Amino acid sequence: LLGRVFVTRRIDKAALGRLAAHATVDVWRERLPPSREMLSEGAARADALLTLLTDRIDGALLDRAPTVRVVANMASGYDNLALADLTERRIAASNTPDVLTDATADLTWALILAAARRLGEGDRALRAGAWRTWEPDFLTGLDLCGATLGIVGLGRIGAAVARRAHGFGMRVVAWSRTRPTAPGVDWRPLHELLAGADVVTIHCALTAETTGLIGARELALMKPTAVLVNTARAEIVDHDALLGALASGRIAAAGLDVFDTEPLPLDDPLLGLPNVILLPHLGSATVGTRARMANIAVDNVLAGLRGERLPNCVNPEVYDLI
Ligand code: GLV
Repeated sequence: LLGRVFVTRRIDKAALGRLAAHATVDVWRERLPPSREMLSEGAARADALLTLLTDRIDGALLDRAPTVRVVANMASGYDNLALADLTERRIAASNTPDVLTDATADLTWALILAAARRLGEGDRALRAGAWRTWEPDFLTGLDLCGATLGIVGLGRIGAAVARRAHGFGMRVVAWSRTRPTAPGVDWRPLHELLAGADVVTIHCALTAETTGLIGARELALMKPTAVLVNTARAEIVDHDALLGALASGRIAAAGLDVFDTEPLPLDDPLLGLPNVILLPHLGSATVGTRARMANIAVDNVLAGLRGERLPNCVNPEVYDLI
Protein backbone atom coordinates (compact mmCIF):
# COMPACT_ATOMS: atom_id res chain seq x y z
CA LEU A 1 0.00 0.00 0.00
CA LEU A 2 1.10 3.49 -0.84
CA GLY A 3 0.24 5.18 2.45
CA ARG A 4 -2.64 6.48 4.56
CA VAL A 5 -5.30 8.87 3.26
CA PHE A 6 -7.80 10.89 5.29
CA VAL A 7 -10.95 11.43 3.23
CA THR A 8 -12.94 14.15 4.94
CA ARG A 9 -16.43 12.97 3.86
CA ARG A 10 -18.13 10.05 2.18
CA ILE A 11 -17.52 10.29 -1.57
CA ASP A 12 -18.43 8.21 -4.62
CA LYS A 13 -18.15 4.51 -3.70
CA ALA A 14 -16.30 3.42 -6.83
CA ALA A 15 -13.76 6.21 -6.43
CA LEU A 16 -13.26 5.31 -2.78
CA GLY A 17 -12.83 1.67 -3.81
CA ARG A 18 -10.09 2.62 -6.25
CA LEU A 19 -8.35 4.52 -3.49
CA ALA A 20 -8.73 1.68 -0.97
CA ALA A 21 -7.15 -0.75 -3.43
CA HIS A 22 -3.87 1.17 -3.13
CA ALA A 23 -3.92 2.93 0.23
CA THR A 24 -5.20 2.71 3.77
CA VAL A 25 -8.24 4.93 3.88
CA ASP A 26 -9.81 6.74 6.86
CA VAL A 27 -13.18 8.24 5.92
CA TRP A 28 -14.97 10.87 8.01
CA ARG A 29 -18.44 9.34 7.88
CA GLU A 30 -20.56 12.08 9.44
CA ARG A 31 -22.88 14.28 7.41
CA LEU A 32 -21.29 17.44 8.80
CA PRO A 33 -17.61 18.23 8.23
CA PRO A 34 -15.01 17.25 10.81
CA SER A 35 -14.32 19.93 13.41
CA ARG A 36 -10.94 21.59 13.25
CA GLU A 37 -9.80 19.18 15.99
CA MET A 38 -11.05 16.11 14.16
CA LEU A 39 -9.59 17.32 10.88
CA SER A 40 -6.27 17.86 12.59
CA GLU A 41 -6.41 14.42 14.19
CA GLY A 42 -7.18 12.72 10.88
CA ALA A 43 -4.47 14.69 9.11
CA ALA A 44 -1.89 13.88 11.78
CA ARG A 45 -2.08 10.19 10.85
CA ALA A 46 -2.19 10.73 7.07
CA ASP A 47 0.18 10.88 4.13
CA ALA A 48 -2.49 12.46 1.95
CA LEU A 49 -5.75 14.35 2.44
CA LEU A 50 -8.80 14.25 0.20
CA THR A 51 -10.65 17.39 1.23
CA LEU A 52 -13.82 19.31 0.44
CA LEU A 53 -14.28 23.07 0.24
CA THR A 54 -15.61 23.03 3.81
CA ASP A 55 -12.21 21.99 5.17
CA ARG A 56 -9.75 24.78 5.94
CA ILE A 57 -6.20 23.52 5.42
CA ASP A 58 -3.48 25.87 6.62
CA GLY A 59 -0.03 25.97 8.14
CA ALA A 60 -1.20 25.58 11.75
CA LEU A 61 -3.02 22.36 10.84
CA LEU A 62 -0.20 21.04 8.68
CA ASP A 63 2.39 21.66 11.39
CA ARG A 64 0.55 18.97 13.35
CA ALA A 65 0.48 16.65 10.32
CA PRO A 66 4.13 16.32 9.29
CA THR A 67 3.64 13.25 7.08
CA VAL A 68 1.08 14.84 4.73
CA ARG A 69 2.54 15.39 1.26
CA VAL A 70 -0.57 15.64 -0.92
CA VAL A 71 -3.85 17.55 -0.53
CA ALA A 72 -6.44 16.75 -3.21
CA ASN A 73 -9.39 19.14 -2.95
CA MET A 74 -12.62 17.77 -4.43
CA ALA A 75 -13.66 21.11 -5.93
CA SER A 76 -12.66 23.44 -8.67
CA GLY A 77 -12.10 26.31 -6.23
CA TYR A 78 -9.32 25.89 -3.68
CA ASP A 79 -9.57 29.06 -1.62
CA ASN A 80 -10.02 26.78 1.43
CA LEU A 81 -6.36 25.79 1.06
CA ALA A 82 -3.74 28.24 2.32
CA LEU A 83 -1.70 27.44 -0.74
CA ALA A 84 1.51 29.26 0.25
CA ASP A 85 1.52 27.32 3.55
CA LEU A 86 1.27 24.05 1.60
CA THR A 87 3.96 24.97 -0.92
CA GLU A 88 6.31 26.08 1.85
CA ARG A 89 5.90 22.64 3.44
CA ARG A 90 6.53 20.90 0.11
CA ILE A 91 2.95 19.65 -0.10
CA ALA A 92 1.41 19.38 -3.57
CA ALA A 93 -2.24 20.33 -3.95
CA SER A 94 -4.82 19.67 -6.65
CA ASN A 95 -8.38 20.59 -7.63
CA THR A 96 -10.97 18.98 -9.93
CA PRO A 97 -11.38 21.31 -12.91
CA ASP A 98 -13.07 20.57 -16.27
CA VAL A 99 -15.41 17.79 -15.07
CA LEU A 100 -17.72 20.29 -13.37
CA THR A 101 -17.65 22.97 -16.06
CA ASP A 102 -20.89 21.97 -17.80
CA ALA A 103 -22.82 21.22 -14.62
CA THR A 104 -21.84 24.57 -13.14
CA ALA A 105 -22.61 26.46 -16.35
CA ASP A 106 -26.04 24.77 -16.44
CA LEU A 107 -26.74 25.74 -12.82
CA THR A 108 -25.65 29.29 -13.63
CA TRP A 109 -28.20 29.33 -16.41
CA ALA A 110 -30.86 27.97 -14.09
CA LEU A 111 -30.20 31.00 -11.86
CA ILE A 112 -30.06 33.46 -14.76
CA LEU A 113 -33.43 32.25 -16.01
CA ALA A 114 -34.92 32.01 -12.52
CA ALA A 115 -33.85 35.52 -11.54
CA ALA A 116 -34.65 37.13 -14.91
CA ARG A 117 -38.08 35.50 -15.11
CA ARG A 118 -38.89 35.74 -11.38
CA LEU A 119 -39.44 32.02 -10.88
CA GLY A 120 -39.03 32.17 -7.10
CA GLU A 121 -41.67 34.89 -6.80
CA GLY A 122 -43.99 33.01 -9.14
CA ASP A 123 -43.70 29.75 -7.22
CA ARG A 124 -44.31 31.50 -3.91
CA ALA A 125 -47.23 33.53 -5.31
CA LEU A 126 -48.94 30.40 -6.58
CA ARG A 127 -48.52 28.56 -3.29
CA ALA A 128 -49.81 31.59 -1.37
CA GLY A 129 -52.96 31.83 -3.49
CA ALA A 130 -51.81 35.13 -4.99
CA TRP A 131 -52.33 33.89 -8.58
CA ARG A 132 -55.78 35.32 -9.28
CA THR A 133 -55.92 35.40 -13.06
CA TRP A 134 -53.76 35.90 -16.14
CA GLU A 135 -52.71 39.54 -15.94
CA PRO A 136 -50.77 41.55 -18.52
CA ASP A 137 -48.26 42.82 -15.98
CA PHE A 138 -48.13 39.91 -13.51
CA LEU A 139 -44.52 39.04 -12.59
CA THR A 140 -43.08 40.38 -15.81
CA GLY A 141 -39.32 39.98 -16.02
CA LEU A 142 -36.39 40.59 -18.29
CA ASP A 143 -36.18 39.64 -21.99
CA LEU A 144 -32.97 37.67 -22.44
CA CYS A 145 -32.99 37.41 -26.24
CA GLY A 146 -31.16 40.47 -27.55
CA ALA A 147 -29.91 41.41 -24.08
CA THR A 148 -26.26 41.57 -23.02
CA LEU A 149 -24.62 39.05 -20.72
CA GLY A 150 -21.55 40.30 -18.85
CA ILE A 151 -19.22 37.54 -17.68
CA VAL A 152 -16.78 38.45 -14.90
CA GLY A 153 -13.99 35.88 -15.17
CA LEU A 154 -13.71 34.11 -18.52
CA GLY A 155 -12.22 30.79 -17.47
CA ARG A 156 -13.60 27.39 -18.34
CA ILE A 157 -16.94 27.91 -16.60
CA GLY A 158 -17.32 31.47 -17.88
CA ALA A 159 -16.71 30.27 -21.44
CA ALA A 160 -19.28 27.47 -21.03
CA VAL A 161 -21.82 30.02 -19.79
CA ALA A 162 -21.03 32.12 -22.87
CA ARG A 163 -21.68 29.19 -25.23
CA ARG A 164 -25.12 28.69 -23.70
CA ALA A 165 -25.83 32.43 -23.90
CA HIS A 166 -25.46 32.35 -27.67
CA GLY A 167 -28.26 29.77 -27.79
CA PHE A 168 -30.48 32.23 -25.93
CA GLY A 169 -29.72 34.97 -28.44
CA MET A 170 -27.69 37.08 -26.03
CA ARG A 171 -24.78 39.35 -26.82
CA VAL A 172 -21.83 38.35 -24.64
CA VAL A 173 -19.11 40.54 -23.17
CA ALA A 174 -16.51 39.52 -20.61
CA TRP A 175 -13.91 40.93 -18.30
CA SER A 176 -11.02 38.81 -17.16
CA ARG A 177 -7.67 39.83 -15.71
CA THR A 178 -5.71 37.87 -18.31
CA ARG A 179 -7.84 38.97 -21.28
CA PRO A 180 -8.49 35.50 -22.69
CA THR A 181 -10.62 35.14 -25.77
CA ALA A 182 -13.61 32.94 -26.53
CA PRO A 183 -15.74 32.70 -29.67
CA GLY A 184 -18.41 35.40 -29.82
CA VAL A 185 -17.24 37.11 -26.64
CA ASP A 186 -15.94 40.70 -26.56
CA TRP A 187 -13.57 41.82 -23.81
CA ARG A 188 -14.60 44.94 -21.86
CA PRO A 189 -13.08 46.87 -18.97
CA LEU A 190 -14.95 45.81 -15.82
CA HIS A 191 -16.74 49.11 -15.25
CA GLU A 192 -17.88 49.25 -18.85
CA LEU A 193 -19.16 45.69 -18.62
CA LEU A 194 -21.12 46.46 -15.46
CA ALA A 195 -22.72 49.55 -16.97
CA GLY A 196 -23.74 47.82 -20.18
CA ALA A 197 -24.86 44.35 -19.12
CA ASP A 198 -28.44 43.22 -18.53
CA VAL A 199 -27.19 40.15 -16.71
CA VAL A 200 -23.87 40.01 -14.85
CA THR A 201 -22.52 36.60 -13.87
CA ILE A 202 -19.46 35.95 -11.71
CA HIS A 203 -16.96 33.22 -12.65
CA CYS A 204 -13.55 34.30 -11.38
CA ALA A 205 -11.63 32.50 -8.66
CA LEU A 206 -11.64 33.96 -5.16
CA THR A 207 -8.21 35.46 -4.54
CA ALA A 208 -6.87 38.47 -2.64
CA GLU A 209 -7.44 40.52 -5.84
CA THR A 210 -11.03 39.43 -6.41
CA THR A 211 -12.24 39.71 -2.80
CA GLY A 212 -14.81 42.51 -2.80
CA LEU A 213 -14.34 43.03 -6.56
CA ILE A 214 -18.04 43.91 -6.84
CA GLY A 215 -18.83 46.47 -4.13
CA ALA A 216 -21.27 49.35 -3.75
CA ARG A 217 -19.48 51.42 -6.40
CA GLU A 218 -19.63 48.61 -8.94
CA LEU A 219 -23.26 47.75 -8.19
CA ALA A 220 -24.13 51.43 -8.63
CA LEU A 221 -22.85 51.24 -12.20
CA MET A 222 -25.32 48.49 -13.11
CA LYS A 223 -28.65 49.07 -14.82
CA PRO A 224 -31.66 49.18 -12.47
CA THR A 225 -33.18 46.41 -14.60
CA ALA A 226 -30.08 44.21 -14.35
CA VAL A 227 -29.71 40.80 -12.77
CA LEU A 228 -26.62 39.59 -10.89
CA VAL A 229 -25.77 35.90 -10.63
CA ASN A 230 -23.00 34.40 -8.51
CA THR A 231 -22.09 30.71 -8.68
CA ALA A 232 -18.38 31.31 -7.93
CA ARG A 233 -17.56 32.47 -4.40
CA ALA A 234 -19.62 34.86 -2.30
CA GLU A 235 -16.71 37.00 -1.12
CA ILE A 236 -16.18 38.34 -4.65
CA VAL A 237 -19.37 40.37 -4.15
CA ASP A 238 -19.74 42.55 -1.05
CA HIS A 239 -22.69 41.08 0.86
CA ASP A 240 -23.96 44.32 2.43
CA ALA A 241 -23.62 46.28 -0.80
CA LEU A 242 -25.56 43.60 -2.67
CA LEU A 243 -28.23 43.52 0.00
CA GLY A 244 -28.59 47.29 -0.26
CA ALA A 245 -28.76 47.22 -4.05
CA LEU A 246 -31.45 44.53 -4.05
CA ALA A 247 -33.50 46.09 -1.24
CA SER A 248 -33.48 49.55 -2.82
CA GLY A 249 -34.19 48.32 -6.34
CA ARG A 250 -30.78 49.62 -7.44
CA ILE A 251 -30.60 46.34 -9.36
CA ALA A 252 -33.61 44.20 -10.25
CA ALA A 253 -32.75 40.74 -8.99
CA ALA A 254 -30.04 38.29 -8.05
CA GLY A 255 -29.44 34.56 -8.17
CA LEU A 256 -26.96 33.25 -5.61
CA ASP A 257 -25.48 29.79 -5.09
CA VAL A 258 -22.67 30.84 -2.73
CA PHE A 259 -22.56 32.73 0.57
CA ASP A 260 -20.01 34.27 2.92
CA THR A 261 -21.19 31.82 5.57
CA GLU A 262 -22.39 28.45 4.36
CA PRO A 263 -24.97 27.27 5.18
CA LEU A 264 -26.53 30.73 4.85
CA PRO A 265 -27.78 31.69 8.34
CA LEU A 266 -31.57 31.78 8.34
CA ASP A 267 -31.58 35.26 9.86
CA ASP A 268 -29.62 36.70 6.92
CA PRO A 269 -31.61 39.65 5.51
CA LEU A 270 -31.21 38.17 1.99
CA LEU A 271 -33.95 35.70 2.93
CA GLY A 272 -36.38 38.57 3.40
CA LEU A 273 -35.97 39.85 -0.15
CA PRO A 274 -38.43 38.71 -2.83
CA ASN A 275 -36.10 39.46 -5.73
CA VAL A 276 -33.29 37.07 -4.92
CA ILE A 277 -33.21 33.37 -5.60
CA LEU A 278 -31.04 31.38 -3.22
CA LEU A 279 -29.52 27.93 -3.73
CA PRO A 280 -27.46 25.81 -1.33
CA HIS A 281 -24.16 25.68 -3.30
CA LEU A 282 -25.41 23.30 -6.01
CA GLY A 283 -23.12 24.36 -8.89
CA SER A 284 -21.55 20.95 -9.48
CA ALA A 285 -24.35 18.92 -7.89
CA THR A 286 -25.15 16.26 -10.46
CA VAL A 287 -24.67 12.54 -9.85
CA GLY A 288 -22.22 12.14 -12.72
CA THR A 289 -20.22 15.27 -11.98
CA ARG A 290 -19.75 14.46 -8.31
CA ALA A 291 -18.56 10.95 -9.24
CA ARG A 292 -16.08 12.39 -11.74
CA MET A 293 -14.84 14.92 -9.17
CA ALA A 294 -14.27 12.15 -6.63
CA ASN A 295 -12.37 10.06 -9.19
CA ILE A 296 -10.16 12.97 -10.17
CA ALA A 297 -9.37 13.70 -6.54
CA VAL A 298 -8.47 10.02 -6.11
CA ASP A 299 -6.26 10.12 -9.23
CA ASN A 300 -4.38 13.04 -7.73
CA VAL A 301 -3.96 11.40 -4.33
CA LEU A 302 -2.63 8.21 -5.94
CA ALA A 303 -0.22 10.13 -8.18
CA GLY A 304 1.06 12.06 -5.18
CA LEU A 305 1.53 8.94 -3.06
CA ARG A 306 3.45 7.35 -5.93
CA GLY A 307 5.77 10.33 -6.01
CA GLU A 308 4.41 11.44 -9.38
CA ARG A 309 3.41 14.93 -10.40
CA LEU A 310 -0.26 15.62 -9.62
CA PRO A 311 -2.26 15.74 -12.87
CA ASN A 312 -4.29 18.72 -11.56
CA CYS A 313 -1.66 20.43 -9.45
CA VAL A 314 -2.58 23.98 -8.37
CA ASN A 315 0.82 24.84 -6.87
CA PRO A 316 3.27 23.56 -9.51
CA GLU A 317 5.98 25.77 -7.99
CA VAL A 318 6.18 23.08 -5.30
CA TYR A 319 8.13 20.93 -7.78
CA ASP A 320 10.96 23.45 -7.74
CA LEU A 321 11.34 22.69 -4.02
CA ILE A 322 10.89 18.93 -3.90
C1 GLV B 1 -17.40 24.34 -5.81
O1 GLV B 1 -17.73 25.40 -5.36
C2 GLV B 1 -16.15 24.11 -6.46
O2 GLV B 1 -15.28 24.99 -6.42
O3 GLV B 1 -15.98 23.02 -7.02
